[in-house]
Amino acid sequence: MILSTTYLNLTLKNPLIVSSSGLTNDVDKIAEIERQGAGAVVLKSLFEEQINYEVNRAIVKSKNAFADRLIENYVKENSVSDYLNLLESAKKQVEIPIIASINCISGQNWTNFAERLENSGADALELNINLIPTSKTLESNDLENQYLEIVSEVKKHIKIPIAVKVGPHFTNILNFAHKLENIGVQGIVLYNRFYEPDFDIDTLKLKPAPILGLPGELHHTLRHIGMMSMAGDKINISVSGGVFNAEAMIKSLLAGAQTAQLCSVLYQKGFGEIKSILSGLKEWMLKMNFETIESFRGKLNYHEIPNPEVYERSQFMKYFSDIE
Ligand SMILES: Cc1cc2nc3c(=O)[nH]c(=O)nc-3n(C[C@H](O)[C@H](O)[C@H](O)COP(=O)(O)O)c2cc1C
Repeated sequence: MILSTTYLNLTLKNPLIVSSSGLTNDVDKIAEIERQGAGAVVLKSLFEEQINYEVNRAIVKSKNAFADRLIENYVKENSVSDYLNLLESAKKQVEIPIIASINCISGQNWTNFAERLENSGADALELNINLIPTSKTLESNDLENQYLEIVSEVKKHIKIPIAVKVGPHFTNILNFAHKLENIGVQGIVLYNRFYEPDFDIDTLKLKPAPILGLPGELHHTLRHIGMMSMAGDKINISVSGGVFNAEAMIKSLLAGAQTAQLCSVLYQKGFGEIKSILSGLKEWMLKMNFETIESFRGKLNYHEIPNPEVYERSQFMKYFSDIE
């Protein structure tokens, strides 16, 4: 049975990727991820916002512009070189592809970091972008264009493949993915889950919402992948969110994704889950007589099924679901 797949022009020994998180911020953890059999790993993101925050904290007391600039450069350099060290050590220690990840809020600051990640051996780069609208006068199209500007700017400076990881709230994700492909992006990761606010009703303060995801988050994504993977675009798709077991991994592939990423399940159950999900995938392929991933990838996408209109149903009408 052949589990290998091509993602971002890389050959992965299987479609299971460990997604960007605290699970991938350390070389020992990355080595364990490889031992358990994952096909690739995405490093914890390097956050522009975090670096800016640390810069502002460091220079807050200074009144000297020259000194401020020195401090700014020092803090930035320190954060980036820690990250480059992680990447370089991981590249020495493991053979699976290492995808670096940066979280951008602006294009220009990142081009230099992206170049350095490429020079330090990143096999590909995931751009983790989430622009939160805070103004009611900002047009949706203008906000979407900001994503594309960031990506285009980074793209101009590096040759390694790029995947763009976004959240689930685009009006037309098919069109957005198509635009990404037109600017030369090789992959899209659907979808990121973000830190969300919750309310403490006793203290009347904001608090963080639950951090880990739930298996049900996959369904929304399956619809989009099933429709995107038949749209004629060549952009690779990676599922993130709600992949908690072999069944979810198989569903992601049947919808047409090249890879699926694990996060919350590994926080809950440990890296051993990688091996059991891969065993589940192999058992299912054996049972179904599929010898390769390609022989069933996309088999349930919008194009392949006889009644594609089921992808367009979204209302709980008795006719569709037996429940109103
Ligand atoms: C604790 C934690 C840290 C995360 N850190 C990052 C990160 O640095 N960069 C990123 O792109 N996604 C990050 N994510 C999002 C995950 O990579 C993943 O996309 C999301 O959790 C959905 O997958 P899941 O349902 O398997 O958890 C993080 C998620 C968690 C729970």
